[in-house]
Amino acid sequence: MKMNLTQKIIYNHLDDEQKKIFLEKNGKVEEIDIKIDQTLTHDITAVMAYNAFEALELDRVKTEKSISYIDHNVLCTDHRTSDDHLFLKTIAQKYGIYYSTPGNGICHSVHIARFAIPGKTLLGADSHTASSGAIGMFAFGGGGVEVARAMAGLRIKLNMPKIIKVNLIGKLNGGVNTKDIALELLKKYSVKGGVGKVFEYTGEGLKYLEIPQRMTITNMGAEMGATTSIFPTDEITKDFFKAQNRLEDFTEFVADESATYDDEITIDMSKIIPLVACPSQPDNIADVNDEKFKDLKVSSVFIGSCTNASYGDIKKAAEILKGKKVSEDVELTIGVSTRAIFLQLLEEGTIAELVKSGARITEIACGACDGIGGAPVSKGITVRTSNRNFKGRSGTVDAQIYLVSPEVAAATAITGKLTVANDVMSDVEKLNNILEPTEYVVDDSEIIKPLDLEKAKKIQIIRGDNIKPLPLNTKIPNELTIKVSLKTKDNISTDDITPNDANFSAMRSNIPEISKYAFSRIYPDFVTRAKEYGKSVIIGGENYGQGSSREHAAIAPMYLGIKAVIVKSIARIHKKNLINHGVVPMTFKHSDDYDKIEISDELSWNNMDEALEKGIITIKNNTKNFTFEALIELSKEEKEIIMAGGLLPFIKKTFKGV
Ligand code: F3S
Repeated sequence: MKMNLTQKIIYNHLDDEQKKIFLEKNGKVEEIDIKIDQTLTHDITAVMAYNAFEALELDRVKTEKSISYIDHNVLCTDHRTSDDHLFLKTIAQKYGIYYSTPGNGICHSVHIARFAIPGKTLLGADSHTASSGAIGMFAFGGGGVEVARAMAGLRIKLNMPKIIKVNLIGKLNGGVNTKDIALELLKKYSVKGGVGKVFEYTGEGLKYLEIPQRMTITNMGAEMGATTSIFPTDEITKDFFKAQNRLEDFTEFVADESATYDDEITIDMSKIIPLVACPSQPDNIADVNDEKFKDLKVSSVFIGSCTNASYGDIKKAAEILKGKKVSEDVELTIGVSTRAIFLQLLEEGTIAELVKSGARITEIACGACDGIGGAPVSKGITVRTSNRNFKGRSGTVDAQIYLVSPEVAAATAITGKLTVANDVMSDVEKLNNILEPTEYVVDDSEIIKPLDLEKAKKIQIIRGDNIKPLPLNTKIPNELTIKVSLKTKDNISTDDITPNDANFSAMRSNIPEISKYAFSRIYPDFVTRAKEYGKSVIIGGENYGQGSSREHAAIAPMYLGIKAVIVKSIARIHKKNLINHGVVPMTFKHSDDYDKIEISDELSWNNMDEALEKGIITIKNNTKNFTFEALIELSKEEKEIIMAGGLLPFIKKTFKGV
């Protein structure tokens, strides 16, 4: 069988029995069960993941490499965050996990530079794990408990994705960034058009794209809901590994010549123009030069995040700002993606130039991307190079977030309104001459390596008083009468469910505490109602649970007694997180039933066990006296997980002694 990249990696990570079936069916299988080579977590998702791993009572992780990054909340405004970091450091030492210290860099940027390997699999407790697809890795996001499962050496099940071939032809013009390709794809596919798909890039245009540029594209595949995105390896990939001084990790990895795909599109990069994702969805795309923006007064600009804070991105922004001043109406903050790149830019004088132009340099961390610092003024217009613009994401609930490339961000910082690079520099094409270095600064001294087993056994895990155990669910009752505690609009993000920002992220290790704020930014009555009802369900619209992989968005509602969510459609990772915590994800068979249900309606079912088997349930609305059907689309194993009350009890029951 001739295989594309995705099929090759999947095939290589199946067991022998599955390999046989995969070949017999020419790759057209429904479900895959793959071995995971590497895992990553970051401080927001890690505490729950390692709590779950600890509960499995193993000596050590069983992956080739597992890395715990501290990159989201490094502010440590009180002891809770510092305590979390210490917990994560000691648990990493206990179980053979690499620990990337606060300040060493954003997980995806450090991972691709120091750990990613072509042809391997990576499961990360973060939706942008797909970033490492830029060097030919099958990298995808999941919940923390799933990562714990992978760390225990257990396989991970996925629906076999559809594979979309994306031919990149032509060359980007100066002042246009691969961010604009990602936004163009969002315009075409929307925030849910990538669900169940892998975007596999190829074409003669690849010769113009360096690895961090490719990473911007793989990173933002998450915004389309894609399972992942992947590039083949080539001479540019090889140069990247050489520049990172780890050529030994490079392997040639390309699709077979006559490999087939489920669909194919072509993007002529020479025709891509600077784009902007307008508030408050990443697929609300417009031309930066659109007349409608002419009176838009920008109050802050952020150049940073795992999407667009690479060496080349910062250099290009610096070139645009060179010799100019940031508008006095604008706050420009810049957060470089890794400590190594920061050092390089510091030594080259680029950081000094940026500071002279009026930029503030923030911590080497996610920071403003996640509302942890850099919050705009009330009702502020903020222009950002990050990947999400949901309401409240910046830390200011009524701010408006516009997502752009670093080139547009830098030009905008100068003028105070949305501006393309052409408008502030005479020869924009010279931006295309800015290339990644042939030798990066390589310094792994802030990555603490795993201890050997004997030493590790002696490590005491230090658990701060804010770190509470992972709450567990029980099996969904076969018969239940239950009230509706919430009805949401479309496109609810996990940020909407459990807010981000520095304050909330300090509560991440304490579910009883963080659950008090579930949906608080948009539906402030929800928690009171859920507590009053004891057990309840949520009714949701399209694309429920999009955005961050944040598992707290499943655990906090579960803790508040949510037994099921009944929605028009649901995002992949959030659906998995709900299942992993024993909450049943259902989709309306007829979406107009959504309109007939209101908050506080009483619903009942009397055959959940049978419904889980059949994949469909009949629910009676006792308040309005009608019945409706909902689909429960679960794999065989997912049904078993629900029957066990969640993934952790399921693993403990099924794989005792792994
Ligand atoms: Fe961090 Fe934002 Fe990326 S929170 S991992 S920089 S999406």
